[in-house]
Amino acid sequence: MPDAAHPYPSINGSRLIGRHRSMAAIGATGRGGVNRQALSHEDTQARQLLLSWSSARGYLAEIDPIGNLFIRRIGKQADLPPVMTGSHLDTQPTGGNYDGVFGVLAGFELLESLDDASMNANRSIELVVWMNEEGSRFAPTTMGSAVSAGCLALDVALNAVDTAGVSVRQALDEHLAALPGLGHRPLGSTGHSFVEAHIEQGPILEVERKKIGIVSGIQGMCSLEVEVNGFEAHAGTTPSRNRRDAVVAAMTLLERLRAKLHDPTDVLRFTVGRFEVSPGSPNTVPGRVVFTIDLRHPDVEYMLRCSETIRALSSGTVEACSVNSRLHLQSDPVQFAPSITAEIRSAAVRRNAPHMNIISGATHDSRYAARKMPTGMLFIPCEKGISHNEAESVHADDLIVGAQVLSDTVLSMAGVGP
Ligand code: HGY
Ligand code: MN
Ligand code: MN
Repeated sequence: MPDAAHPYPSINGSRLIGRHRSMAAIGATGRGGVNRQALSHEDTQARQLLLSWSSARGYLAEIDPIGNLFIRRIGKQADLPPVMTGSHLDTQPTGGNYDGVFGVLAGFELLESLDDASMNANRSIELVVWMNEEGSRFAPTTMGSAVSAGCLALDVALNAVDTAGVSVRQALDEHLAALPGLGHRPLGSTGHSFVEAHIEQGPILEVERKKIGIVSGIQGMCSLEVEVNGFEAHAGTTPSRNRRDAVVAAMTLLERLRAKLHDPTDVLRFTVGRFEVSPGSPNTVPGRVVFTIDLRHPDVEYMLRCSETIRALSSGTVEACSVNSRLHLQSDPVQFAPSITAEIRSAAVRRNAPHMNIISGATHDSRYAARKMPTGMLFIPCEKGISHNEAESVHADDLIVGAQVLSDTVLSMAGVGP
């Protein structure tokens, strides 16, 4: 129960851990991780489970036109803009059990701990589950929050297709049919503030023996796609001089890009995460290659110069193949609101949680929430910084400390009382 030192309710750590276990069972890969990609059957199941807990508590649940989910606990002054928290439940194909999930379950736990303490918040508190944060099935990443912030057109997002040719629109229709009774929330939903709790997905907090990372901001990011078109030919009869081999061209281009973009300071992040070869037959010279480039840097000018270099080199002809590129998403570095980082720091101090400032290398939906309202993030350590990997692991105590600091931060802004 709350006391003078801690005016806010204690979260229920065993319940929080139990909820993580329940979520980890949905889309479990059998190798310790999960595959719960956006709008998949597993993603729907995860949301159904969360909604079952929510309706048992009598919270309101609404969904917006791109599939962002909002669970609201009404406050005493229900007309005031709510304090919002949340993250995502969709995962990478070989994802871990905490990336995104921790922020959602920690946010839900704070709602429940208020109920259990028979306390009320002045402002309503809203838990947001952003749609398609990961961008592994449908490009780009942070799709739902980008559309909500007006940084990605709804139609462009709805028309995105996965490798099986299924569009977001089709998958979302099926998803909504499986979640009956949800209220309608217009696009662009905003509030008093937004606070996201997330695992660091890097090694710094663990190395520095800190329990809370007070996130100052997120580095810049570009998501690009490069298309290389050659000519399919017989692998046995076609001499090299007559070939227009899309794989050879893509490899030449990638070598040129890596040479041109080499960063001796190792701050630039350049990743080719998907490399699709068509027709993908062992005895046909590949006629087409499509690959993705995920580019990140804290300095926006530098990042834009690198993006322009990629665009310039990924055009025209390479090894007799035509090359072109497409920019899926470009997001500048974002600084979080000092008012929110100050709230997180006060909560960490009150709970005697060792903490430090940190910048996020990973992108998050908070990048776009910050376009609409004062926003901040807190990190908790994950073992060896491993993430986007089934071996992702977090100490139970760190989950509990992080959820408590999140709860205190949100409740300090929402205002609480009996
Ligand atoms: O890609 C990212 O940084 C995020 O973890 N999806
Ligand atoms: Mn995440
Ligand atoms: Mn992720």
